[in-house]
Amino acid sequence: MIALARSNIVKQTMQDTRGTSALAARYVAGENPEAGVSRAATLLMQHKIHSSLFYLGEYVDRPLLVSENVAAKLAVVEKLGHADLDVHVSVDPTQIGQSINAEQARRNAFAIAEAIARSAAGRPGFHALMLDMEDESVVNSTIALHDDLRAARLPVALTLQAYLRRTEGDLQAQIARGSRVRLVKGAFAAGTRVAFTRQGAIKTNFRHLIELMLSRQAREAGFYPVIATHDDHLHAHAIEHAEGNGWHPSEFEFEMLVGVRDNVARALAARGHQVRLYVPFGRDWWPYAVRRIGENPRNAWLLARSLVCAT
Ligand code: FDA
Repeated sequence: MIALARSNIVKQTMQDTRGTSALAARYVAGENPEAGVSRAATLLMQHKIHSSLFYLGEYVDRPLLVSENVAAKLAVVEKLGHADLDVHVSVDPTQIGQSINAEQARRNAFAIAEAIARSAAGRPGFHALMLDMEDESVVNSTIALHDDLRAARLPVALTLQAYLRRTEGDLQAQIARGSRVRLVKGAFAAGTRVAFTRQGAIKTNFRHLIELMLSRQAREAGFYPVIATHDDHLHAHAIEHAEGNGWHPSEFEFEMLVGVRDNVARALAARGHQVRLYVPFGRDWWPYAVRRIGENPRNAWLLARSLVCAT
């Protein structure tokens, strides 16, 4: 799956072939910001589900790609405001230049967050530059960027990963500040000194972190928890703690990836919970879609059908 995701030849063939449209349509809204905003509007209208728009610009190693990514993020921010939707975009720090020029990345993050604040224009909703979290080497710089944006009173939220041992401490610090944090398991690997490496241990830590995020103290501090997993046992654990500690459903949310267990997302929304879907858009959809299939081998038929159609 990793080889398929990284192969430029496979990527070009698949992205240029009509037969792959079923695969793309499941996990990606379309090629441009209009398609992303249109999917977000439909999700809200039909299922009361909110969205976080993500421009698919991966493996960024050239300044030109950084400029393209920032322009796409700014374009979607403006369109979300015009459509009267939550102005909520997810950003990988390396997409906006973190690994090329940290100072430039910081300027880009401020420009996007300021555009979100303008586009939201005081409307109710959860408007945010949601900082995705990449591998362990960039955790400090991503948290520092989040804290700077927050100190400037800009709309920002932070992703933390349950697979890292340090996350409990990072989370406690953000709870005390009343921040907005999205908790995920983590899509990266690291050694046992810094990370939990077994799925069972990661899940146990996720449950423990949910308890901190949905504690009475967190609520009193004005913290906003985002539980981002497709794991329904963890959803149930969060709901139990929220109810036990006096959280109203409007005070926290669940987030999932579009195309992955949409039935679970819709069921949560129908029960009155706040649900957001991560909605990717952009031409570079192949590596993202293949990773989603890799997470669930039961979807391999979708890949097989696409490969057959492409040849
Ligand atoms: P897990 O993989 O344990 O699966 C739970 C259940 O869902 C299982 O029943 C499984 O079969 C099913 N399932 C999982 N994937 C499926 C698929 N593709 N199709 C159908 N069923 C599937 N990571 C990171 O390191 N940094 C980040 O910034 C983010 N950001 C992020 C945002 C959001 C909104 C989400 C949901 C996830 C991320 N992630 C992430 C990814 C995250 O770290 C993790 O890798 C995935 O969410 C997979 O773990 P889960 O907890 O969802 O379920």
